[in-house]
This record gives sequence, C-alpha cells and structure tokens, in this order.
Amino acid sequence: VRTVKNICCVGAGYVGGPTCAVVASKNEDVDVTVVDLSQPRIDAWNSSQLPIYEPGLQEIVEFARDGSDQRRSNLHFSTDVRGAIQKADLIFISVNTPTKTVGVGAGRAADIKYVEAAAREIAEVATSDKIIVEKSTVPCGTSEILRDIFEAVGEPHVRFDVLSNPEFLAEGTAIADLLSPDRILIGSEGTPEGLEAANALADVYAAWVPRERIRADVNIWSSELAKLAANCMLAQRISSINSLSAICEATGANIKEISHSVGLDKRIGPNFLKASIGFGGSCFKKDVLNLVYMAETLHLPEVASYWKAVVDINEWQKDRFAKHIIRALNSTVEGKRIAILGLAYKKNTGDTRESPAIAFIGQMLSERAQLAIYDPKVSYDRILRELGDEFGHEAVAKYVKPCESAYAACERASAVAIMTEWDEFKTDQLTPRPTLDLRDLTVSKLSTTPVAKRADSTSSAPSSQSEDNMSSDEEGRQCPSTPPTNTSSPTTELSDPTK
Ligand code: NAI
Repeated sequence: VRTVKNICCVGAGYVGGPTCAVVASKNEDVDVTVVDLSQPRIDAWNSSQLPIYEPGLQEIVEFARDGSDQRRSNLHFSTDVRGAIQKADLIFISVNTPTKTVGVGAGRAADIKYVEAAAREIAEVATSDKIIVEKSTVPCGTSEILRDIFEAVGEPHVRFDVLSNPEFLAEGTAIADLLSPDRILIGSEGTPEGLEAANALADVYAAWVPRERIRADVNIWSSELAKLAANCMLAQRISSINSLSAICEATGANIKEISHSVGLDKRIGPNFLKASIGFGGSCFKKDVLNLVYMAETLHLPEVASYWKAVVDINEWQKDRFAKHIIRALNSTVEGKRIAILGLAYKKNTGDTRESPAIAFIGQMLSERAQLAIYDPKVSYDRILRELGDEFGHEAVAKYVKPCESAYAACERASAVAIMTEWDEFKTDQLTPRPTLDLRDLTVSKLSTTPVAKRADSTSSAPSSQSEDNMSSDEEGRQCPSTPPTNTSSPTTELSDPTK
C-alpha cells in the first residue's frame, strides 16, 4: 500500500493555496509545500497579507503554516520548485490553464503550456517514484500528454503515475467547499498501479471527507471531462435563466417568479436559477470554450454550437445591461458620474478576472462617463492598475476615480450600478460608518441631473426599498436589481425605463 508523506503543489493560486491549506490542516503527518514561480506571490503566502481573499482562508493557513505548541507546522510556501518536487511523493499540478490567445484554437482552446512546463520540470528533477495529480482543469486527454512527457524526459527507473483529480471549489466559498466537498473524483488508468496511486490520494482526503464521497475508481478521461461538464452545465443554467429574463422584460412575466416556480421542480432544482448580468470569473467562459473547441476538433459542430450559445448569451446579457443604463441616461453619458459598486466578479472574493464589471466599465469609458468605483476587496491601487492595463492608463487616469466606500462612490452619481452582490451593499453594514446612511441614498439626493430618476427606475440604484433588490445565484454572481418602487411593472429588471 502506497502512503503519501510529502506533497508538493505546483501553482500557488486560487486553487493551489486554499486546497493545500486544507489538505495540510487535516493531515498533520504530511508535509505540504506549495511552490510558484512568482516570488511576490510566495512572499504574500508567507506573510499575514495573503495574496487572495477567501472567508476562513487566513485562519486555516496560519493554523497549518505557523503551527503551535500543540501542532507542528506542515504547510510551506516556496519558490524552490525543484527542491519541493525532488522531496515529494505526490505532486499536484495546479497551474493556470487560460484560453489560448495565439495559434491553432486561439480564443477557444485551453492553453496547457503551463501544465506541460510543470510536467517537464517534474520529469527532469524526479529521482524517485511520483504520483502526479492533474488538479488544473484540462482538456480531456491531457493525462496522455503528461504520460508521454514523463516517458520521454523522465529517468527510466522512476515511476510516474498520472491521476486526474479536478477541483470543484467555487471562489468565495472555497474553504467551505474544500472542507465539505460534494464529491472527490480521482481518475486513474485503472491498472493495479494506477488504482494504488488513486487510493493513496484517496487516503489523504479521507482524513476529513467521508469515504462514500470519494470516487477513486473513475476512468481518467471521465474525470477530466467531468470537471468541464460540470462547469459547462452550471454556466448553461445561468445563460438559460438570463435568456428568459429578456423574455420577461418583453412580457408581463417576472423572472424571480419564474426562477422560483421552475426551481420547485425536483428534476430541475432551485440552484443557479437567478437572473444576473452574466457570469464572470476565470473558469466558466474558458471551460465552455474549451468544450466548444473539443467538440469542433471531434467533428461535432452541432455540439460545439450548442455550447457556444451559452457564452454568446452571456456576452449579450452583459451588453444589454450597459445599454439599458446608457438609454436610461438619455443616451448621453459623457461627463456623467456613474457609481460602480463592486469590481470583483462575485462577492467574497477579490478576484476580478472576467468580471462583468470590467466589461461594463469598458463600455462606460467608451461613452466617456466619469466612473466612481468601490469594491471592499479590490484596493485603490489595484483598481487603477488593472483597469489601466485593460483600457490604457491615460483614459483611466482621466475617467476613473477609485473610492474609499460605497457612499463616496455614490455621491453626486447620476446612476449607481451594483456590479457585485457584496453583503454590505445589501445590508447597510458598512465600516467605518459613514455620515450618510444608505437608507438616505435615493438617487434624487445623489444626483444633480433629472435623468437620475430614470437611472433609479432601471435597477441601478440602491435605495430604502432596495434591500432585496439585488440577488445572486448560488456561486454568488451578481444580479441586476429589481426596481424597488415600480410595482406596476415587476418584470422590468433590465427593461427600458423610458417605455
Ligand atoms: P492562478 O492563476 O490563480 O494560479 C496559478 C499559479 O500557477 C500562478 O501563481 C502561476 O504563477 C503558477 N505557475 C504557472 N506555471 C508554473 C510553473 N511551471 N511552476 C510554478 N508555478 C507556476 O490559477 P487558479 O485560479 O488557481 O487556477 C488553476 C487551475 O485550477 C486552472 O486550471 C483552473 O481552471 C482550475 N480551477 C480554478 C478554480 C477557481 O475558482 N479559480 C476552481 C477550480 C479549478
């Protein structure tokens, strides 16, 4: 029976860091070293200012990393990639797999160059047997590429067992998801050696996950595809409900009532059925496009176009939201102040990758609006840097003002766009307590222009009635708010207020 005593994780990002913190905290006898090429990232993991924000992460990292009188420290962060690989008997590959930007499949295919580079480095360094675990989300069949690399580059006497163990955590609830996963999938080649390696990894999880939730007998291709399939189906539900929201706006139906009624059907269920301004984050779009590309290369054009529509609806929904706001402001946004509450792609994370807020900001910048932006977990500097990198630093210096609070952003705003459903925008729990009360923030008080009244009725302004006017789906994606006072037209969430 193989046992794991030393784990290395290549990639100290949103997946590698939290996953290994939980693995280490639950397996005191196992040493876990998370390595990355980025020195600043590793320095941050070794400090009290972690590089990412997740509820509960700080505590769990400090518990395992710092140790105590009662417990040894067994979680390490380092840039010594080779040293950690050398010592490990199990290696998670947890590097980024973005969409390819150049060459064959650009704009759709997953770029696995970082996975490949990590595998090559492991193959070059390893002098003892290793279990290699694909943790990154990869195209179906990547394990074969890894096996080829190990065979071609690795020492002949070293055994490499490749497993697929996709990560299903959602940002914003990563620690809760890791502590209580719905399932752990471990795909192997199915040979006696492969199954032995899968069971060794299963034992690591069994330190806190009930055995019946650990599936260590899955075929490796199924395991790779299962992760893509799960993300595609989650994204598809969001696009489905968002497409229905447009029908609601054109009729007398109410999307919230539709979500509720449809979700009561046991075959459908209530999750991921809330309308929003579209999904964001680093995974959904890239994973759907990855599946689209796979279908294309497998000569399944109908399958490819079916899944491509999920992304198309999402882009359309984001665009619709911006157009509604522009129309509500008499189609002249130039010089008007728009408050943007939230830059992260959902609450409880500081992650802004593929955030709908950024797409919205791009549209507002092209209209030359003045943007006042606040997000509780995206710092002043990061707002300027990230938007500057995306839209040009000159434009950002001219049109963007990061703000210290939601209240500061809303002052004198002609419209307030709630882009992330942070609780503090819903519950009036701001700290430090500003002089202005959220309940006083009706648009008429904020605005200097009469068009602002219309902005209010489009859903983009918080107000006394707005406590419930923002909703989120189960991954916490941001949702457009319902007009709080417009009871005569309950379905106008994104509707044209001038009608
Ligand atoms: P990330 O970009 O936050 O982290 C990846 C890290 O890998 C970076 O810090 C990078 O410097 C490092 N890296 C790249 N090549 C390296 C190498 N050769 N040696 C050492 N370090 C290297 O990415 P994230 O979000 O953690 O995602 C990782 C994978 O997990 C992706 O495939 C993603 O699709 C998947 N995933 C992501 C989830 C999420 O919520 N972010 C959830 C589930 C899966």
